[in-house]
Amino acid sequence: MTSTRPSPDWLTDAVLYQIYPQSFADSDGDGIGDFAGITEHLDHLAWLGVDTVWLNPCFTSPFRDAGYDVTDYLAPAPRYGTTEDLAALVEAARRKGIRVLLDLVAGHTSDQHPWFRASAEDPSDHRYIWSERPVDGFVASPGGRIGWYRPNFFECQPALNFGFAREDPDQPWRQPVDAEGPRANRAALRGIMAHWLGLGLAGFRVDMASSLVKDDPGFVETGKLWTELRDWLDRSHPQAALFAEWGDPAAAVAAGFHADFFLQFGGADHGLPLRSLWNNNAGTVEEFWKQGPCYFEAEGRGTPEVFLDAWRSAAQLTEGAGHIALPTANHDFSRLATGPRTADQLAPAFALLLTWPTLPAVYYGDEIGMRYVPDLPDVEGSVLGPTYNRAGSRTPMQWAPGPNAGFSTAPAERLYLPVDPDPHRPDVATQRADPTSLLHTVRRLIALRRAHPGLGARGSVEVRHAGYPLVYTRAGRYLVVVNPRREPAVVPPAALPDGAGRVGRPGGLRPLDVQGVRVGAGGELRADGFSYGVFDLG
Ligand code: GLC
Repeated sequence: MTSTRPSPDWLTDAVLYQIYPQSFADSDGDGIGDFAGITEHLDHLAWLGVDTVWLNPCFTSPFRDAGYDVTDYLAPAPRYGTTEDLAALVEAARRKGIRVLLDLVAGHTSDQHPWFRASAEDPSDHRYIWSERPVDGFVASPGGRIGWYRPNFFECQPALNFGFAREDPDQPWRQPVDAEGPRANRAALRGIMAHWLGLGLAGFRVDMASSLVKDDPGFVETGKLWTELRDWLDRSHPQAALFAEWGDPAAAVAAGFHADFFLQFGGADHGLPLRSLWNNNAGTVEEFWKQGPCYFEAEGRGTPEVFLDAWRSAAQLTEGAGHIALPTANHDFSRLATGPRTADQLAPAFALLLTWPTLPAVYYGDEIGMRYVPDLPDVEGSVLGPTYNRAGSRTPMQWAPGPNAGFSTAPAERLYLPVDPDPHRPDVATQRADPTSLLHTVRRLIALRRAHPGLGARGSVEVRHAGYPLVYTRAGRYLVVVNPRREPAVVPPAALPDGAGRVGRPGGLRPLDVQGVRVGAGGELRADGFSYGVFDLG
């Protein structure tokens, strides 16, 4: 598929970094992260080499779903700071070559939002989806209006009314997409986006992006809605990017997004492409996410084929039109270091992430191998059920050694403490001082990707061995070997491009960044357990 759409010129080379603002850095000692804390730690991001940050929601909110329940889209939550603090962060980041994206919670508000409070009093208001009789899944009106509203996620998150793709006389709450309420909501989305783009923000990650128009087979009407917004962006803010939380890049890009993530859910395989890489059934694992061994499993019982097949298909369908982002983790899912997978096993995962033609997205703390912490109590809606606890992926960034990870232990809301109880837990300060640390590995791999565009989102890829190890070439010029299991693995000679066997010799492989991949006695290429190698084929 080719597209004539303009696209921000920075997007193809982006290396993303997700910041959960609650947990990243606390500048004022109230025990909760804030904008100024992020600003103070921009050096870390610049040193690491990332250039695009996306922030989870930082707007005013009662925080029943950690800020995904917005009460004012144009006002930052006081606990994070003021609009001026956010503008200062954006400007300081810009000076370091870092763009900032906000999280746009498009499909619902908080039940405390003035729009909803007004709607719950006024039967003629249709900004939300109201039934005059009880309906399964709907929630009783909290106000003077007699009625029931449709929630989008938690009950405290009433769905904004973007209409239904199909009407039904028996269900009068199904309004067409061009009814007055849906039109007002579409206009509001544009207004919110224009406001923040005007302040220098570089775009948005759109929460539950596929959820807007209800009962929409094939997302046809949802696609029209986003395409209309994209057309407006292309005209008025051509350097702004829209990332979807959709989990089906082909669908999201067809709907008008610049990019979408492979996620733990979404698409025909319900998130299996991403989960087949990292998910080891520990951490935030719902019953229906239980699966066979993933590829990044120490016992080496997985296969990269599930990911590769899904990537091939998505890449074909999005080629020239948009991008696929590949995250290490996110605030809703297990970190890389979860269950039996320890930090010393993560280098090959980052080698894949940073040499694959997707947009890499590092979840804060994964660059030092922060662990998913099991069994934490519910914090602001983090626990969704006995097997789905998101709190473990939301603990404070571990800037320094010590019991509270460099976060204040002072009063107020010590939200995501405690941190990993392991006395050897990773932290930024210690790893900065150790050139052999994971942090330095991630930094080197990011720098390598930047220095060699053929390793980035643009260059071609040819998979030469889809097992242990995974072997591929990039841009016909680089060879990558990734061995995520404990046992060593030998690169099958047929997987090597012609003449590539002679490492370090003229016409052979020139190591660019290698950890544990070497030439064996018989001239074969051997990959130690948990190793990777990136070579120039010369
Ligand atoms: C998205 C967010 C998640 C939130 C939900 C409701 O999936 O990532 O954290 O709880 O939407 O807004």
